[in-house]
Amino acid sequence: MTALLHIKDFSAAYGEVPVVSSVSLDLKAGEIMALTGRNGMGKTTLLRGIMGLTPVRRGTMQFAAEDIAAQTTEMNSRAGIAYVPAGREIFGSLSVRENLIMCARGGEVGNAWTFERVMALFPRLGERINHGGKQLSGGEQQMLAIGRALMTNPRILLIDEATEGLAPLVAREIWRTLSEICASGMSAIIVDRDLKRLSRIVSGVAVMFRGEIAFAGTPAALLSDDALVRKYIGL
Ligand SMILES: Nc1ncnc2c1ncn2[C@@H]1O[C@H](COP(=O)(O)OP(=O)(O)OP(=O)(O)O)[C@@H](O)[C@H]1O
Ligand SMILES: [Mg+2]
Repeated sequence: MTALLHIKDFSAAYGEVPVVSSVSLDLKAGEIMALTGRNGMGKTTLLRGIMGLTPVRRGTMQFAAEDIAAQTTEMNSRAGIAYVPAGREIFGSLSVRENLIMCARGGEVGNAWTFERVMALFPRLGERINHGGKQLSGGEQQMLAIGRALMTNPRILLIDEATEGLAPLVAREIWRTLSEICASGMSAIIVDRDLKRLSRIVSGVAVMFRGEIAFAGTPAALLSDDALVRKYIGL
């Protein structure tokens, strides 16, 4: 079976400085992968590359068997890629409802993410539906950013720093919703440092180190190797 996302020898740079080199990975439809590693190792740049926000310097990038290396972000979004950036970047001057509605795009009949379904996933957002984006807490903003991505009915979700900076209780709520989303058949790449939580929902982990993938395997294989975890993740 061909991969939903196929990346081969992907390299990216900011100006002359190479920050991601020769990254290869494949993600099958319905697969959930964790992307982790220390700060500044290239995780965000890789997600941005997939979304078309950072140019592909070298290599192959295919989504649903289409070459996307030269596509714009808009084209990638329409092809079914959704990105939840680390900064969440919700529209602060728009209400929760407006943030969600403006991103709506129809999905597969019977399995589409609708406004109602997003509300059911995040009851907290329902209570804040007419509040402005700026009035939301960090956790609520993250719920809104994820909800907004779902409203585009993507085939793959790229989530950067899923729970970074969130209080433990709120982080737990995000993990609950992520497992629910993943159980619905979504494909996803999730960046986070919480290996324990990640390992409950992903089938594979890729660890980035200085712009390259230093480890790719199962969460169990990574977690059972203390030296690897200490070197590449630093926990
Ligand atoms: N806009 C930019 N201009 C120049 N260099 C950048 C830019 N963004 C990131 N970098 C550099 O690229 C490298 C990879 O950064 P990137 O943000 O992809 O890493 P990361 O693994 O997501 O890190 P973090 O865990 O801190 O989010 C780092 O050395 C960073 O300093
Ligand atoms: Mg980052």
